[in-house]
Amino acid sequence: MSTWANLGLQDSASPLMEQLIFFHDHALLILVMITVLVGYLMFMLFFNSYINRFLLHGQLIEMIWTILPAIILLFIALPSLRLLYLLDEINEPSVTLKSIGHQWYWSYEYSDFNNIEFDSYMIPTNELAIDGFRLLDVDNRVVLPMNSQIRILVTAADVIHSWTIPALGVKVDGTPGRLNQTNFFINRPGLFYGQCSEICGANHSFMPIVIESVPVNYFIKWIS
Ligand code: CUA
Repeated sequence: MSTWANLGLQDSASPLMEQLIFFHDHALLILVMITVLVGYLMFMLFFNSYINRFLLHGQLIEMIWTILPAIILLFIALPSLRLLYLLDEINEPSVTLKSIGHQWYWSYEYSDFNNIEFDSYMIPTNELAIDGFRLLDVDNRVVLPMNSQIRILVTAADVIHSWTIPALGVKVDGTPGRLNQTNFFINRPGLFYGQCSEICGANHSFMPIVIESVPVNYFIKWIS
């Protein structure tokens, strides 16, 4: 989870988030190079000695500085498309979890295992344990096996919500009357915190998500 000094992205806990971080760094590097170049050119204009007063046109240089930015944009667009399709790929999931957004809590259904269903509410500050995280911990966590492909189905019962876990690179809107799908693979054990990220009403900030990633045999024990 994010703590007070963490202004960047969280450490990834899934291969997809790892790819998202790589793409972020790649795009940022291109952005920095363009900013530095344009900044340098603008600064140098202050020292222009007007030696090219009679210059009216330059076909070649205009051709170059029209086409070059388009080529640079391709270096962002192609990896971006690759990631987009990678995020959408469903790879034989071994667990399917359905999460339903409500005002203002999440409810979960493990429909492949004896139809387990439960609600997950935020723990209010006055009931928080001494080691609990304020506004982030819930009464019933989502337990999921690590090192397995997991499919998440997201929907909502009242207004639009969004099931978002930064460390896993997951952000899917829950829309009433629709069923959205995403998938991920958690590659380490631990707790992963998330929040609703679609403005859904007065208590939008108070419907967090906690995923408890455990080894597969623990998960089977928990589910049975
Ligand atoms: Cu649910 Cu914001």
